[in-house]
Amino acid sequence: MTMDEPTLESWTRRRFVQMAAASAASISVAPLAHAEGETEHRTMIDVPFEKRNPRIALIGLGGRGTSLLGNLLAADGQVVALCDIVPAKTEHAASLVVAAGQPKPRLYTHGPHDYETMLTGNDIDLVLVATPWSWHAEQAIFAMKHGKDVAIEVPGVTTIEDCWRIVRTSEETRKHCMMLENCCYGYNETLVLRMAHDGLFGDLLYGEGAYLHDLRKILFSDEGEGLWRRAEHTKRNGNLYPTHGLGPVANYMGIQRGDRFGYIVSMSSRERSFDEYRKEHLQPGDPRMAERYVTGDMNTSLIKTANGLTITVKHTVSTPHPYDRVNMIAGTKGIFQDYPARIYFDGQNSDESWESIDAWKKYAHPLWQREGGTATKIGGHGGMDYIMLYRLLQCVKEGLPPDMDVYDAAAWSAVAPLSVSSVSRGSQPEEFPDFTRGKWQQRKVSAIAMQA
Ligand SMILES: NC(=O)c1ccc[n+]([C@@H]2O[C@H](COP(=O)([O-])OP(=O)(O)OC[C@H]3O[C@@H](n4cnc5c(N)ncnc54)[C@H](O)[C@@H]3O)[C@@H](O)[C@H]2O)c1
Repeated sequence: MTMDEPTLESWTRRRFVQMAAASAASISVAPLAHAEGETEHRTMIDVPFEKRNPRIALIGLGGRGTSLLGNLLAADGQVVALCDIVPAKTEHAASLVVAAGQPKPRLYTHGPHDYETMLTGNDIDLVLVATPWSWHAEQAIFAMKHGKDVAIEVPGVTTIEDCWRIVRTSEETRKHCMMLENCCYGYNETLVLRMAHDGLFGDLLYGEGAYLHDLRKILFSDEGEGLWRRAEHTKRNGNLYPTHGLGPVANYMGIQRGDRFGYIVSMSSRERSFDEYRKEHLQPGDPRMAERYVTGDMNTSLIKTANGLTITVKHTVSTPHPYDRVNMIAGTKGIFQDYPARIYFDGQNSDESWESIDAWKKYAHPLWQREGGTATKIGGHGGMDYIMLYRLLQCVKEGLPPDMDVYDAAAWSAVAPLSVSSVSRGSQPEEFPDFTRGKWQQRKVSAIAMQA
């Protein structure tokens, strides 16, 4: 270990001294992390769901909420209430519930706070939140405070303070707040997870996850995400959507289960692509011509874990790029990388070339072996949406802990605000708070792997 490569402990000590010296106005995460360690908290790690067939409500029935609903109904989820500020969206969603043979759910459409009316009674057990990012934290916290478990869409919450707020609220209310990170349930991701945990890649060293998806047309449309997501690019410069690529890599590495994210450094390229796109596609005088985009077109972040592993996380939604989440994991004995899926093991062949993963089908996750046919028929990102919701229902119905808990939601979400802080400080490192307050050290294997 060189002087340039501090251990997490030495780096944290040095950074804490630097932070103490910094002005009170500067962005700081270490004191918050420190303050959280001082009081006793009842952890939500491995706390089972209350065993029941949950009565489910959805908030947000746009593109994602409607798709979740279809998968939920296919998995026999009992949907009792729906909420969206647009009445036509709830009506359409209600028609899907009725078509699935269930009674018409109660509808809540009276403005942006009508979810509060919906969640105040005792007739809902589990809430799925698929609203724009700025609503996730408030809606999740309200749901937990009113006795409901909650599952929020990606990218979870958007500030470090909200990461702590969902953790604290979950611990205080004893209700779960998980993130619906569907990519953790992909066929390749669950297969590679089992291979990694079986030691096939040797001691893990590094990984990479990304969200490389050309969303320019959607973000400049007059519906769905076009109505709110482009605006996020006028506010913050960093990785705005980190969890699709990161979640699976965190699972391979056992983050929060014997390791944790230590610190992050982040760099953004300059921004050009939205400017160029609107010049080609909008009329002069269109109000969108006055927007000023600050999110760099490509953000690249590097995370170092407490055990010394590294993770690269990339984000671009504004450039011409074929869809790619990279999904790479490497160790002392081999490497897997997706898009396309390929694998290489030490000494596998003389020309050091990749091979297909077809020979490793025996590692297919039991969830996919059992439910894969239905999952691919129902659809939803190649079937992973169905597998995720089937598994969530299984956990609640059988009274198991969730695979991904509030500490995962907080740590994975934290990448966005910490990348923004790092970019704004010339790519200086930012420390991750330890949302588990030390408990990551005792916990060893992810629940999805144990299910195997
Ligand atoms: N996991 C995935 O693969 C995936 C895919 C797409 C979107 N998402 C996430 O899902 C969420 C929703 O995205 P989307 O594409 O469906 O966007 P969308 O704009 O199509 O849908 C959002 C819906 O929320 C409603 N809404 C807004 N404020 C509300 C409020 N206060 N109360 C009730 N309803 C409200 C809107 O009317 C709209 O119908 C986002 O967090 C997004 O990042 C995840």
